[in-house]
Amino acid sequence: MQEKIASLNEQFTQDLNQVQTTKDLEDLKVKYLGKKGPVQALMLDLKNAAPEERPSLGKKINELKVSFFDHIETRFAVLINKEESNRLSDEMIDITLPGRRRNRGSTHIITQIFDQVFTILKGMGFSVQYGPDIDSDYYNFESLNFPPDHPARDMQDTFYISEEMLLRTHTSNMQMRVMETETPPIRVISPGKCFRNETITSRHHVFFHQLEAFYIDKDVSFSELLATLDEFLQKLFHQDIKTRYRPSYFPFVEPGLEVDVSCVACNGSGCSLCKHTGWLEVAGAGMIHPNVLQNGNIDPEVYSGYAWGFGIERLAQIKYGIKDVRLFSENDLRFLNQFPST
Ligand code: PHE
Repeated sequence: MQEKIASLNEQFTQDLNQVQTTKDLEDLKVKYLGKKGPVQALMLDLKNAAPEERPSLGKKINELKVSFFDHIETRFAVLINKEESNRLSDEMIDITLPGRRRNRGSTHIITQIFDQVFTILKGMGFSVQYGPDIDSDYYNFESLNFPPDHPARDMQDTFYISEEMLLRTHTSNMQMRVMETETPPIRVISPGKCFRNETITSRHHVFFHQLEAFYIDKDVSFSELLATLDEFLQKLFHQDIKTRYRPSYFPFVEPGLEVDVSCVACNGSGCSLCKHTGWLEVAGAGMIHPNVLQNGNIDPEVYSGYAWGFGIERLAQIKYGIKDVRLFSENDLRFLNQFPST
């Protein structure tokens, strides 16, 4: 029995040396110390030993058992440590790797200009009303005093949908709609899309945006129109901008004006943006024609009004030095990303 104990100890030591993982160690423990293992077998064998040897043999078997436990425990501590640090290094996250930027959408530059313009004009007492993109000849032309043979009615300029219906060529189509439904004082701005049958180039597009503004009340004067435009343009561009008004013709205003601002790039001294004139054209404007007021059932003897219309792309071009109007509708992210919303 003594020998059996010694050889079991030796075998255990050998097996223990082979152990690589905690799993191997667990198997080893079951193998040697399990109920059907050799240590338990020795215990059962004890009854076959001479009675006087039993106590010392029993003690030896017990010592063997305790020593197995000790070895297993010591080894376990080493292995679990090793396995844990392996696992940690396998799972290590490289925190020095730069993050991936998420693409954030932003408001389109045209919407941004609209928002800036709304803020300024709302502060000056105007309220926003949206008009239809598809409208009748009456609201787009006839009620606005366009003579029947006016060139703007020509198929070259206007997209007709039927004899009577068309894609509006300007936001002035809202003037009559508002006059029909409201009584003065009227102070309205009307933003929106406009369409013209043009050849698409860097300077012209079939599709663009305008903002109409009009004010109708008793004693609205021409100088009030000029003062309001001056203030608006100074707020939109900068305080020192100069304005210039040139006589022009629009059927629905009298007198009619074209509005220029001093070039934002060269301050009026002449550059490529202003084609060396020192001035940039920004709007059409004028005093609402008495015929138009009459069409809207507003008595031109009692009331007067002014109106102006801006191209929004034009304002954006001037503000940011954009040369090609096609960029506004092509949805090229390389262009749009240059105008993050604030
Ligand atoms: N509707 C004109 C245009 O299309 C602009 C304008 C608006 C002119 C109001 C005078 C008054 O260009």
